[in-house]
Amino acid sequence: MSTAATIPAGAGGHATPRRGAGRTEPQALTIRNVRKVYASRGRETFEAVKGMDMNIRPGELISLLGPSGCGKTTTLRMIAGLETITSGDILIGDRRINDLPPGKRNVGVGFESYALYPPLNVRENLAYGLKARKVAGAEAQVDDLARRLEMTELLDLRPASLSSGQKQRVALARALIRQPPVLLLDEPLGHLDASARQRVRRELKLLQREFGYTTIVVTHDQLEALSLSDRIAVMNGGIIQQFGTPDELFDDPANQFVADFVGEPGINLFPGVVRRDGGRVTVRVGDDTLVPAASTPADGRKVVVGMRPPDCVTGVERGLRGEVAVFEDLLEYGLATVVVPGVDERLVVQTPSGQAWSGGDALTFTAPPERVYLFDAETGDRLR
Ligand SMILES: Nc1ncnc2c1ncn2[C@@H]1O[C@H](COP(=O)(O)OP(=O)(O)O)[C@@H](O)[C@H]1O
Ligand SMILES: [Mg+2]
Repeated sequence: MSTAATIPAGAGGHATPRRGAGRTEPQALTIRNVRKVYASRGRETFEAVKGMDMNIRPGELISLLGPSGCGKTTTLRMIAGLETITSGDILIGDRRINDLPPGKRNVGVGFESYALYPPLNVRENLAYGLKARKVAGAEAQVDDLARRLEMTELLDLRPASLSSGQKQRVALARALIRQPPVLLLDEPLGHLDASARQRVRRELKLLQREFGYTTIVVTHDQLEALSLSDRIAVMNGGIIQQFGTPDELFDDPANQFVADFVGEPGINLFPGVVRRDGGRVTVRVGDDTLVPAASTPADGRKVVVGMRPPDCVTGVERGLRGEVAVFEDLLEYGLATVVVPGVDERLVVQTPSGQAWSGGDALTFTAPPERVYLFDAETGDRLR
């Protein structure tokens, strides 16, 4: 079934498009210097979002990725109109929506807590909005979407009998089926088991591409963000740390937080001291030396060095000389946990498949200069 065929173009034969009469064109979403200060009953206030800027293109799928409490849900709720905005502007297309009530914003929300009508079963809940707008083929659309989200068996159930994971899928379906120009999803797959999560994640991305909703997905799961998103905004403490493509975040992290949050297995982070010899910058780590691409840090500067396990190169003459503590053979590659004299942190080195290492083996490793990241030891800012 072609989905486009179910969308009434100028339903009722009128030339003027009716609001909510089926699919609307995807819209740009602009967030300008948006802040949220929570006031808790006359006591201290709390700034949950501290001046956020984002330009999201029409039809783009972006993720807000960050640890619990960093302000992701608050941001979505402000866009949806469920939370007031302390200052700043939110625009959909050219239209400032700050002062519009939620129902007038043309934003679809897939929050788990979002109310379903208790007397209606899931099928009726999903079809309700379509039927109200006299969308042709509502039943078929519901069946199709339910099949794709693996929730056909839920269609005849009442909301009260659903588990949290099932409610989550119904909330997701309900948001998707409205085909809003802007779609906001808060941890949409959090309650699913691992294999269902992967499949539904792929389906979600396919549906997003088919329908073209401008979409924000909130998640604390980096794999989910990496696999779904055109771009990811990594948040911490109410501040966007970096907004970029998955590759940009991985290859060119703006600071230590982003480097540490993105990548599995996680990046090695350990202290070093910059040595400058004319124009040439090296980093002293324990008794050894690494060569970074950075050219600006001054001699003697204390830094945190970042080296990702898959960027490590073994079988080299110079680099960090350590001793293998533990080796894990993961078939496609191995992970050696290495102790380097003078470095408190244990470092993880990815080794090629077919190589076996044992505890006590000596291992010397390094990384290409552009993969030896330096961060300010105080602020965590990237040094270039
Ligand atoms: N209604 C509220 N009143 C006061 N503080 C709140 C309120 N809602 C959220 N917060 C606080 O704001 C911060 C961000 O919360 P939230 O946006 O829910 O984070 P996330 O979704 O990233 O886990 C947290 O420290 C949280 O405790
Ligand atoms: Mg949240």
